[in-house]
Amino acid sequence: METNIREADTISEALKRFGTPLFLFSEKQLEEDYVRIRSALPQQVGLYYSMKANPNPYICKAIHRLGSPIEVASIGEYHRAVSIGVPADQIVFTGPGKSREEIRACIDGDVFCINAESVQELTVIQEEAARLKKKVQVTLRINLKTTRQGSRMASVGIPTQFGIDEEQLEDAVKYALGHTQLKLIGLHTYQGTQNFHLDYYKESIPGMFAWIRKLKDIYAIPLTTVGLGGGFGVPYFRGDDPFPIDEFGKLLSEEILKNEDLQLKHIFVESGRYITSRMGSYVTQVLYTKQSHGKKFVIVDGGTHHRAFSSVMGRSFKAPLPIRYMLHDRKDEMLEEPAEARDGFIQTNIVGKLCTPTDVIQSSVLLPGNMTMGDTIVFPNSGAYGLSCGNMHFLSHTLPKELWVAQSGELHDISWL
Ligand SMILES: Cc1ncc(COP(=O)(O)O)c(C=O)c1O
Repeated sequence: METNIREADTISEALKRFGTPLFLFSEKQLEEDYVRIRSALPQQVGLYYSMKANPNPYICKAIHRLGSPIEVASIGEYHRAVSIGVPADQIVFTGPGKSREEIRACIDGDVFCINAESVQELTVIQEEAARLKKKVQVTLRINLKTTRQGSRMASVGIPTQFGIDEEQLEDAVKYALGHTQLKLIGLHTYQGTQNFHLDYYKESIPGMFAWIRKLKDIYAIPLTTVGLGGGFGVPYFRGDDPFPIDEFGKLLSEEILKNEDLQLKHIFVESGRYITSRMGSYVTQVLYTKQSHGKKFVIVDGGTHHRAFSSVMGRSFKAPLPIRYMLHDRKDEMLEEPAEARDGFIQTNIVGKLCTPTDVIQSSVLLPGNMTMGDTIVFPNSGAYGLSCGNMHFLSHTLPKELWVAQSGELHDISWL
């Protein structure tokens, strides 16, 4: 059984000072993961941080400091980006349901571009830009007709509210070209989250360059920008292989080289989960244990309202990565769920405090049969799509603290909600 003394020390200190439930975000892990993705990408490719994955301002600022511009999807995210010091020309605004007010604020603030997802949206952008007497840079998001789906939650190649179908793209281009307030600078696509294979990108990247080429040829538009998406997968389940980020980088370099003549100034990808997931741990303590109809339940002081995405996926796929735990009388030792059945361990459902049977954080976890009140359960991989993605106000429970574990090991309370 693996132990991790340093992690146990940090968590024990956090428990003493702040109680549970809480999130711990590790600066060291964030930097490692950031460097891994950044160094795999060709230098000239921008790596936008998708704020939706973890909107904690302290974390967004840390990622921006590491070198990322920001992709926002709401007025709230836009204001947060500005408030942490991200220059407007390092912000792109994406999303299928941008309101007139959101569009106006972004035009007024001079964001780098608005990524338009329909002709109707372009009409609103045009009207708002005219009202503000500004010219606004737009990219068009394409719903690519791909034959390969890489994502576990696809948003291309299917009927969807995201982006513009390829058949309608030229209508959008003509609209943009016909309206003086709009400056069409390029194209964008985003295929969905949790992509684990290169197959999709082998088709989508050349597809995007081909569209740029076609539009330059037919309409002689000086396009400068292409957003190639992201959604790079992070293993949450046993059997998931990591996303081949180095091979992705190589593929991207090759395609950029083949399309050098297009002279694109801004080629970018965007990522949220890959950058933030592994740095986060969600820490809870056992309130009660019980046996019901032959099943063991451990009720912890957190729940799915804090860890929405991963717990939903965890329940449906039933093979999540091992959790870690500390027994209440051994708070200096971090233990890991065993990979296979063993004496003294029983299949346990870890559930939360919500008054709904759906509040199962993780089912069928192998935990010691004597697990009891005051033991600690740590869910790894909890840095992305956690608190802000769940129904955190359900039942009006107190929100968990969010703690930053600096490289030095120091703990800082970075709670903000
Ligand atoms: C347009 C867009 N870009 C980026 C992302 C971030 O995806 P991920 O967290 O998988 O990197 C999303 C996620 O929904 C998105 O909709």
